[in-house]
Amino acid sequence: MPERGGGESVYDGLPDGVVVADANGTVVDLNDAALRILGPGDWQGRPLRDVLPLIDPQGRDWWACTNPYDGLVTRVRQPERWLTLAREGQPDQTVLVTAAYRRDGQRKVTSVIVSLRDTKARSRSEKSGTELISVVAHELRSPLTGVKGFTATLLNKWERFTDEQRLHMLKTINADADRLTRLISELLDVSRIESGRLELHKQLVDLATLVERDIAGRVAAGEAADRFVIETADVPEVWADPDKVGQVVGNIVENALRHGSGAVHVRLAAEGDGARVTVTDEGEGISAEALPRVFTKFWRDARRGGTGLGLFIAKGIVEAHGGVIEAGSAETGGARIGFALPLGAPGHAEA
Ligand SMILES: Nc1ncnc2c1ncn2[C@@H]1O[C@H](COP(=O)(O)OP(=O)(O)O)[C@@H](O)[C@H]1O
Ligand SMILES: [Mg+2]
Repeated sequence: MPERGGGESVYDGLPDGVVVADANGTVVDLNDAALRILGPGDWQGRPLRDVLPLIDPQGRDWWACTNPYDGLVTRVRQPERWLTLAREGQPDQTVLVTAAYRRDGQRKVTSVIVSLRDTKARSRSEKSGTELISVVAHELRSPLTGVKGFTATLLNKWERFTDEQRLHMLKTINADADRLTRLISELLDVSRIESGRLELHKQLVDLATLVERDIAGRVAAGEAADRFVIETADVPEVWADPDKVGQVVGNIVENALRHGSGAVHVRLAAEGDGARVTVTDEGEGISAEALPRVFTKFWRDARRGGTGLGLFIAKGIVEAHGGVIEAGSAETGGARIGFALPLGAPGHAEA
Protein backbone atom coordinates (compact mmCIF):
# COMPACT_ATOMS: atom_id res chain seq x y z
CA MET A 1 0.00 0.00 0.00
CA PRO A 2 1.46 3.38 -0.94
CA GLU A 3 2.16 5.88 1.81
CA ARG A 4 -0.47 8.60 2.14
CA GLY A 5 -0.71 9.16 5.86
CA GLY A 6 -3.85 6.99 6.14
CA GLY A 7 -5.47 3.79 4.92
CA GLU A 8 -6.81 2.75 1.55
CA SER A 9 -9.26 4.96 -0.29
CA VAL A 10 -12.59 3.97 -1.83
CA TYR A 11 -11.40 5.97 -4.84
CA ASP A 12 -8.36 3.74 -5.45
CA GLY A 13 -8.27 2.36 -8.95
CA LEU A 14 -9.87 5.41 -10.58
CA PRO A 15 -7.80 6.88 -13.44
CA ASP A 16 -8.01 10.43 -12.01
CA GLY A 17 -6.49 11.60 -8.77
CA VAL A 18 -9.08 12.33 -6.07
CA VAL A 19 -8.39 14.41 -2.95
CA VAL A 20 -11.16 14.87 -0.37
CA ALA A 21 -11.20 17.56 2.32
CA ASP A 22 -13.61 17.92 5.23
CA ALA A 23 -15.66 20.94 6.36
CA ASN A 24 -12.51 22.59 7.74
CA GLY A 25 -10.46 22.17 4.60
CA THR A 26 -8.36 19.33 6.01
CA VAL A 27 -7.46 16.48 3.69
CA VAL A 28 -9.22 13.33 4.88
CA ASP A 29 -8.80 11.01 1.91
CA LEU A 30 -6.84 10.66 -1.30
CA ASN A 31 -6.57 7.86 -3.78
CA ASP A 32 -3.65 6.07 -5.41
CA ALA A 33 -3.85 8.17 -8.61
CA ALA A 34 -3.50 11.37 -6.51
CA LEU A 35 -0.45 9.82 -4.83
CA ARG A 36 1.08 9.20 -8.24
CA ILE A 37 0.75 12.93 -8.96
CA LEU A 38 1.80 14.17 -5.50
CA GLY A 39 4.29 11.48 -4.58
CA PRO A 40 4.24 9.70 -1.23
CA GLY A 41 3.81 11.90 1.83
CA ASP A 42 1.81 12.51 4.99
CA TRP A 43 -0.95 14.20 3.04
CA GLN A 44 -3.87 13.31 5.24
CA GLY A 45 -4.58 15.74 8.05
CA ARG A 46 -2.96 18.64 6.21
CA PRO A 47 -4.77 21.70 4.81
CA LEU A 48 -6.08 21.14 1.26
CA ARG A 49 -4.53 24.42 0.05
CA ASP A 50 -1.08 23.30 1.19
CA VAL A 51 -1.41 19.83 -0.32
CA LEU A 52 -2.61 21.30 -3.63
CA PRO A 53 -1.06 24.76 -4.16
CA LEU A 54 -2.81 25.42 -7.48
CA ILE A 55 -2.34 28.52 -9.56
CA ASP A 56 -4.10 29.57 -12.74
CA PRO A 57 -2.36 30.61 -16.00
CA GLN A 58 -2.33 34.23 -14.82
CA GLY A 59 -0.36 33.19 -11.75
CA ARG A 60 -3.26 33.68 -9.34
CA ASP A 61 -3.86 31.38 -6.38
CA TRP A 62 -6.75 29.20 -7.54
CA TRP A 63 -8.08 28.69 -4.02
CA ALA A 64 -8.28 32.43 -3.46
CA CYS A 65 -10.22 32.73 -6.74
CA THR A 66 -12.60 29.82 -6.18
CA ASN A 67 -12.90 30.10 -2.42
CA PRO A 68 -14.90 26.90 -1.84
CA TYR A 69 -15.51 27.41 1.87
CA ASP A 70 -16.61 31.05 1.92
CA GLY A 71 -17.61 31.67 -1.69
CA LEU A 72 -21.04 31.64 -3.31
CA VAL A 73 -23.28 29.36 -1.25
CA THR A 74 -25.03 28.04 -4.35
CA ARG A 75 -21.85 26.83 -6.00
CA VAL A 76 -21.43 23.08 -5.98
CA ARG A 77 -18.72 22.55 -8.55
CA GLN A 78 -15.80 24.17 -10.35
CA PRO A 79 -15.48 23.78 -14.12
CA GLU A 80 -12.57 21.79 -15.46
CA ARG A 81 -9.41 23.91 -15.83
CA TRP A 82 -5.74 23.40 -16.55
CA LEU A 83 -3.81 24.66 -13.56
CA THR A 84 -0.27 24.56 -12.31
CA LEU A 85 0.55 22.61 -9.20
CA ALA A 86 3.33 24.80 -7.82
CA ARG A 87 4.91 23.04 -4.88
CA GLU A 88 8.00 24.42 -3.21
CA GLY A 89 11.12 22.54 -4.17
CA GLN A 90 9.26 20.55 -6.84
CA PRO A 91 9.04 21.16 -10.57
CA ASP A 92 5.74 22.71 -11.64
CA GLN A 93 3.15 20.19 -12.81
CA THR A 94 0.27 20.95 -15.14
CA VAL A 95 -2.94 19.29 -14.03
CA LEU A 96 -6.53 19.32 -15.18
CA VAL A 97 -8.60 20.15 -12.11
CA THR A 98 -12.28 20.00 -11.24
CA ALA A 99 -13.86 20.25 -7.82
CA ALA A 100 -17.21 19.38 -6.32
CA TYR A 101 -18.55 20.73 -3.04
CA ARG A 102 -20.98 18.87 -0.80
CA ARG A 103 -23.21 21.14 1.26
CA ASP A 104 -25.48 20.49 4.23
CA GLY A 105 -29.05 21.78 4.77
CA GLN A 106 -27.67 25.22 5.70
CA ARG A 107 -25.62 25.16 2.49
CA LYS A 108 -22.42 25.00 4.51
CA VAL A 109 -19.67 23.05 2.78
CA THR A 110 -19.24 19.65 4.39
CA SER A 111 -16.63 18.34 2.00
CA VAL A 112 -14.66 19.35 -1.05
CA ILE A 113 -13.69 16.72 -3.60
CA VAL A 114 -10.95 17.67 -6.03
CA SER A 115 -10.25 15.62 -9.10
CA LEU A 116 -6.82 15.88 -10.75
CA ARG A 117 -5.68 14.61 -14.08
CA ASP A 118 -2.04 14.98 -15.00
CA THR A 119 -0.74 15.61 -18.50
CA LYS A 120 0.48 12.06 -18.85
CA ALA A 121 -3.04 10.75 -18.41
CA ARG A 122 -4.37 12.75 -21.31
CA SER A 123 -3.03 12.96 -24.78
CA ARG A 124 -0.96 16.01 -25.50
CA SER A 125 -3.12 17.00 -28.43
CA GLU A 126 -6.18 17.06 -26.25
CA LYS A 127 -4.43 19.26 -23.75
CA SER A 128 -3.19 21.81 -26.23
CA GLY A 129 -6.60 21.65 -27.88
CA THR A 130 -8.37 22.70 -24.69
CA GLU A 131 -5.97 25.53 -24.01
CA LEU A 132 -5.74 26.66 -27.58
CA ILE A 133 -9.44 26.95 -28.10
CA SER A 134 -10.04 29.15 -25.10
CA VAL A 135 -6.94 31.30 -25.43
CA VAL A 136 -6.99 31.61 -29.20
CA ALA A 137 -10.68 32.43 -29.38
CA HIS A 138 -10.13 35.20 -26.88
CA GLU A 139 -6.97 36.56 -28.53
CA LEU A 140 -8.40 36.52 -32.03
CA ARG A 141 -11.62 38.18 -31.10
CA SER A 142 -10.36 41.56 -29.95
CA PRO A 143 -8.34 42.53 -33.05
CA LEU A 144 -11.07 41.09 -35.27
CA THR A 145 -13.66 43.22 -33.52
CA GLY A 146 -11.61 46.28 -34.42
CA VAL A 147 -11.15 45.20 -38.02
CA LYS A 148 -14.83 44.46 -38.46
CA GLY A 149 -16.00 47.59 -36.67
CA PHE A 150 -13.86 50.04 -38.62
CA THR A 151 -14.39 48.29 -41.95
CA ALA A 152 -18.17 48.36 -41.52
CA THR A 153 -18.06 52.00 -40.45
CA LEU A 154 -15.97 53.03 -43.45
CA LEU A 155 -18.18 51.07 -45.87
CA ASN A 156 -21.42 52.49 -44.52
CA LYS A 157 -20.42 56.06 -43.80
CA TRP A 158 -17.46 56.76 -46.06
CA GLU A 159 -18.65 60.27 -47.04
CA ARG A 160 -19.09 61.41 -43.48
CA PHE A 161 -15.40 61.17 -42.62
CA THR A 162 -12.46 63.37 -43.41
CA ASP A 163 -9.40 61.89 -45.10
CA GLU A 164 -7.59 62.14 -41.80
CA GLN A 165 -10.26 60.12 -39.99
CA ARG A 166 -10.29 57.50 -42.74
CA LEU A 167 -6.53 57.25 -42.52
CA HIS A 168 -6.71 56.75 -38.78
CA MET A 169 -9.23 53.92 -39.15
CA LEU A 170 -7.20 52.23 -41.87
CA LYS A 171 -4.10 52.40 -39.70
CA THR A 172 -5.97 50.77 -36.85
CA ILE A 173 -7.25 48.02 -39.15
CA ASN A 174 -3.73 47.51 -40.44
CA ALA A 175 -2.28 47.24 -36.93
CA ASP A 176 -5.00 44.79 -35.87
CA ALA A 177 -4.36 42.66 -38.94
CA ASP A 178 -0.64 42.63 -38.06
CA ARG A 179 -1.50 41.49 -34.56
CA LEU A 180 -3.61 38.65 -35.93
CA THR A 181 -0.85 37.56 -38.28
CA ARG A 182 1.67 37.62 -35.45
CA LEU A 183 -0.58 35.59 -33.20
CA ILE A 184 -1.22 33.00 -35.87
CA SER A 185 2.46 32.61 -36.65
CA GLU A 186 3.21 32.25 -32.91
CA LEU A 187 0.60 29.52 -32.67
CA LEU A 188 2.17 27.74 -35.63
CA ASP A 189 5.56 27.95 -33.91
CA VAL A 190 4.08 26.50 -30.74
CA SER A 191 2.60 23.60 -32.63
CA ARG A 192 5.91 22.95 -34.41
CA ILE A 193 7.83 23.02 -31.13
CA GLU A 194 5.36 20.74 -29.38
CA SER A 195 5.24 18.22 -32.17
CA GLY A 196 9.02 18.30 -32.69
CA ARG A 197 8.68 19.69 -36.22
CA LEU A 198 10.69 22.87 -35.74
CA GLU A 199 13.05 22.96 -38.69
CA LEU A 200 16.43 24.64 -38.35
CA HIS A 201 18.27 25.86 -41.41
CA LYS A 202 21.70 26.37 -39.97
CA GLN A 203 24.50 28.56 -41.14
CA LEU A 204 27.37 30.35 -39.41
CA VAL A 205 25.76 33.20 -37.52
CA ASP A 206 27.34 36.24 -35.92
CA LEU A 207 25.13 37.03 -32.95
CA ALA A 208 26.42 40.59 -32.70
CA THR A 209 25.11 41.26 -36.20
CA LEU A 210 21.73 39.77 -35.31
CA VAL A 211 21.47 41.96 -32.23
CA GLU A 212 22.56 45.11 -34.06
CA ARG A 213 20.07 44.43 -36.84
CA ASP A 214 17.20 43.95 -34.40
CA ILE A 215 17.96 47.18 -32.59
CA ALA A 216 18.55 49.17 -35.77
CA GLY A 217 15.09 48.02 -36.91
CA ARG A 218 13.50 49.25 -33.71
CA VAL A 219 15.24 52.61 -33.89
CA ALA A 220 14.16 52.97 -37.53
CA ALA A 221 10.60 52.22 -36.39
CA GLY A 222 10.72 55.09 -33.91
CA GLU A 223 12.18 53.68 -30.69
CA ALA A 224 14.65 56.09 -29.05
CA ALA A 225 18.21 55.03 -29.89
CA ASP A 226 19.45 55.93 -26.42
CA ARG A 227 17.29 53.24 -24.83
CA PHE A 228 19.72 50.62 -26.10
CA VAL A 229 23.21 49.78 -24.93
CA ILE A 230 24.99 47.02 -26.82
CA GLU A 231 28.11 45.53 -25.24
CA THR A 232 29.89 43.34 -27.72
CA ALA A 233 32.92 41.20 -27.13
CA ASP A 234 34.91 38.91 -29.34
CA VAL A 235 32.22 36.31 -29.82
CA PRO A 236 32.63 33.25 -32.03
CA GLU A 237 30.15 32.60 -34.81
CA VAL A 238 27.82 29.68 -34.13
CA TRP A 239 25.97 27.26 -36.37
CA ALA A 240 22.37 28.38 -36.04
CA ASP A 241 19.22 29.29 -37.89
CA PRO A 242 19.57 33.09 -38.20
CA ASP A 243 15.84 33.77 -38.59
CA LYS A 244 14.91 31.71 -35.57
CA VAL A 245 17.67 33.09 -33.35
CA GLY A 246 16.73 36.57 -34.56
CA GLN A 247 13.21 35.81 -33.38
CA VAL A 248 14.55 34.87 -29.93
CA VAL A 249 16.55 38.11 -29.69
CA GLY A 250 13.52 40.05 -30.92
CA ASN A 251 11.22 38.47 -28.33
CA ILE A 252 13.54 39.18 -25.44
CA VAL A 253 14.29 42.76 -26.47
CA GLU A 254 10.59 43.37 -27.10
CA ASN A 255 9.82 42.08 -23.60
CA ALA A 256 12.45 44.35 -22.07
CA LEU A 257 10.83 47.33 -23.82
CA ARG A 258 7.24 46.35 -23.12
CA HIS A 259 7.41 44.73 -19.70
CA GLY A 260 10.52 46.52 -18.45
CA SER A 261 11.60 50.17 -18.59
CA GLY A 262 14.68 52.36 -18.78
CA ALA A 263 17.71 51.34 -20.79
CA VAL A 264 17.90 47.92 -22.39
CA HIS A 265 21.36 46.40 -22.18
CA VAL A 266 22.28 43.64 -24.60
CA ARG A 267 25.55 41.95 -23.71
CA LEU A 268 27.39 39.43 -25.84
CA ALA A 269 30.01 37.11 -24.46
CA ALA A 270 31.86 33.99 -25.48
CA GLU A 271 30.79 30.89 -23.57
CA GLY A 272 32.31 27.45 -23.94
CA ASP A 273 32.77 26.94 -27.66
CA GLY A 274 29.75 29.15 -28.35
CA ALA A 275 28.24 32.46 -27.33
CA ARG A 276 25.85 34.01 -24.83
CA VAL A 277 23.42 36.88 -25.21
CA THR A 278 22.12 38.58 -22.06
CA VAL A 279 19.38 41.20 -22.09
CA THR A 280 18.67 43.28 -19.00
CA ASP A 281 16.40 46.22 -18.38
CA GLU A 282 15.75 48.69 -15.57
CA GLY A 283 12.08 47.94 -14.93
CA GLU A 284 10.42 46.13 -12.05
CA GLY A 285 11.83 42.77 -13.05
CA ILE A 286 10.12 39.43 -12.70
CA SER A 287 8.93 38.41 -9.25
CA ALA A 288 10.43 35.35 -7.57
CA GLU A 289 7.10 33.49 -7.88
CA ALA A 290 6.83 34.28 -11.58
CA LEU A 291 10.43 33.40 -12.49
CA PRO A 292 9.95 29.63 -12.81
CA ARG A 293 6.85 30.19 -14.98
CA VAL A 294 7.86 32.77 -17.56
CA PHE A 295 8.78 30.07 -20.07
CA THR A 296 5.44 28.32 -19.69
CA LYS A 297 3.09 28.44 -22.64
CA PHE A 298 0.44 31.16 -22.27
CA TRP A 299 1.93 32.33 -19.01
CA ARG A 300 1.92 36.12 -18.96
CA ASP A 301 1.32 39.23 -17.03
CA ALA A 302 -2.34 39.77 -17.90
CA ARG A 303 -2.02 43.55 -17.62
CA ARG A 304 0.14 44.00 -20.67
CA GLY A 305 -1.82 42.25 -23.33
CA GLY A 306 0.70 39.78 -24.78
CA THR A 307 -0.04 36.19 -25.65
CA GLY A 308 2.39 34.63 -23.18
CA LEU A 309 3.90 32.62 -26.01
CA GLY A 310 7.05 34.64 -26.69
CA LEU A 311 9.34 33.09 -24.09
CA PHE A 312 7.89 29.61 -24.59
CA ILE A 313 8.85 29.88 -28.27
CA ALA A 314 12.25 31.39 -27.41
CA LYS A 315 12.97 28.42 -25.14
CA GLY A 316 11.85 25.96 -27.80
CA ILE A 317 14.13 27.54 -30.39
CA VAL A 318 17.15 27.82 -28.09
CA GLU A 319 16.79 24.22 -26.91
CA ALA A 320 16.39 22.98 -30.47
CA HIS A 321 19.87 24.46 -31.02
CA GLY A 322 21.19 22.56 -27.99
CA GLY A 323 21.37 25.78 -26.01
CA VAL A 324 19.97 26.99 -22.70
CA ILE A 325 17.87 30.00 -21.73
CA GLU A 326 17.23 31.33 -18.27
CA ALA A 327 15.50 34.19 -16.50
CA GLY A 328 16.71 36.08 -13.45
CA SER A 329 17.20 39.56 -12.05
CA ALA A 330 19.61 42.20 -13.20
CA GLU A 331 21.72 44.22 -10.77
CA THR A 332 19.55 47.18 -11.69
CA GLY A 333 16.54 45.28 -10.29
CA GLY A 334 15.09 44.76 -13.77
CA ALA A 335 14.72 41.46 -15.56
CA ARG A 336 17.63 39.51 -16.97
CA ILE A 337 17.01 36.98 -19.72
CA GLY A 338 20.02 35.20 -21.14
CA PHE A 339 20.57 32.43 -23.59
CA ALA A 340 23.67 30.54 -24.67
CA LEU A 341 24.17 28.69 -27.94
CA PRO A 342 26.90 26.13 -28.46
CA LEU A 343 29.10 26.28 -31.55
CA GLY A 344 26.94 23.49 -32.95
CA ALA A 345 27.43 21.85 -36.28
CA PRO A 346 26.33 22.57 -39.83
CA GLY A 347 23.38 20.82 -41.32
CA HIS A 348 19.68 20.68 -41.38
CA ALA A 349 18.26 19.61 -38.06
CA GLU A 350 14.79 18.83 -36.87
CA ALA A 351 14.45 19.06 -33.15
N1 LIG B 1 11.82 42.20 -19.16
C1 LIG B 1 10.77 41.80 -18.43
N2 LIG B 1 10.40 42.49 -17.31
C2 LIG B 1 9.34 42.09 -16.57
N3 LIG B 1 8.57 41.00 -16.86
C3 LIG B 1 8.89 40.28 -17.95
C4 LIG B 1 10.00 40.62 -18.79
N4 LIG B 1 10.08 39.70 -19.77
C5 LIG B 1 9.05 38.83 -19.58
N5 LIG B 1 8.33 39.18 -18.48
C6 LIG B 1 7.17 38.48 -17.95
O1 LIG B 1 7.08 37.19 -18.57
C7 LIG B 1 5.79 37.04 -19.18
C8 LIG B 1 5.89 36.11 -20.37
O2 LIG B 1 6.62 36.70 -21.44
P1 LIG B 1 6.26 36.25 -22.92
O3 LIG B 1 6.28 34.77 -22.96
O4 LIG B 1 7.16 36.97 -23.87
O5 LIG B 1 4.75 36.71 -23.09
P2 LIG B 1 4.10 38.15 -23.44
O6 LIG B 1 5.24 39.09 -23.74
O7 LIG B 1 3.23 37.87 -24.61
O8 LIG B 1 3.32 38.55 -22.22
C9 LIG B 1 5.34 38.45 -19.50
O9 LIG B 1 3.93 38.56 -19.60
C10 LIG B 1 5.89 39.22 -18.29
O10 LIG B 1 5.01 39.10 -17.19
MG1 LIG C 1 6.78 38.64 -25.10
